Amino acid sequence: MRPAEAQSQVSDYWTRRAPAFDGVASHVAQAALWRDVLSAAFEAEEAKEVVDLGTGTGACALIAASLGHRVRACDGSEGMLAVARRAAEASGLDVTFEQGLIEEATFAPASADIVTLRNVLWTLPDPMAALRKAHLLLRRGGVVFVSDGLWSVAAQYRSTYPETLAASLPRHDGLTEDETSTMLAEAGFGPARSWQHLFPASPYPGDVPMFVLTARKD
Ligand SMILES: C[S@@+](CC[C@H](N)C(=O)[O-])C[C@H]1O[C@@H](n2cnc3c(N)ncnc32)[C@H](O)[C@@H]1O
Repeated sequence: MRPAEAQSQVSDYWTRRAPAFDGVASHVAQAALWRDVLSAAFEAEEAKEVVDLGTGTGACALIAASLGHRVRACDGSEGMLAVARRAAEASGLDVTFEQGLIEEATFAPASADIVTLRNVLWTLPDPMAALRKAHLLLRRGGVVFVSDGLWSVAAQYRSTYPETLAASLPRHDGLTEDETSTMLAEAGFGPARSWQHLFPASPYPGDVPMFVLTARKD
């Protein structure tokens, strides 16, 4: 399957899932814990420019805004963004949402202090392109925040993508901390630092190996 066709199917899939997504999402069930972990991992003493790539229903974007940061976010699925926009409005948080693919996002290069990618790399036709985009968007000294997991080990977290779509996504089974650290280095980032120990237990019931990493643009 060509990457453009895969991407179109991925966006349609998430638009169909959007209305029910937050009902089962870890960032809602464990909102306070995720907020504490993002707050620690950002290592930000003052308000920063944050960009959330593949924001979905706004998980990282809304937390970052609640921490006082100025936040822009993009997603390929208009359905997911509609939920994110409603959530921002309901909580009085100011986030600029843009509909569009990560690789094509129009945010200015070197305009961000922090870029977040949570549970997005596994579903991309080209995950390295997204990490290179994060690197481009960051100022020197800026931080990329990446969280994901090895979703293949737990049936309840496997996607229900059609087989041909799943087969066209290089990380459809998920990612490990080590693999992602290597990918971050290949994208030009400095050494990765892990933060998942701040969760008292895995935030995903079923003990799916997950990680939270940050790395700086030197
Ligand atoms: C599992 S959801 C995660 C959403 C959110 N980051 C979170 O932590 O809840 C994956 C999201 O990635 C989005 N997505 C997939 N490929 C994308 C791309 N190339 N550009 C932008 N968004 C993309 C999907 O539309 C979906 O909203």
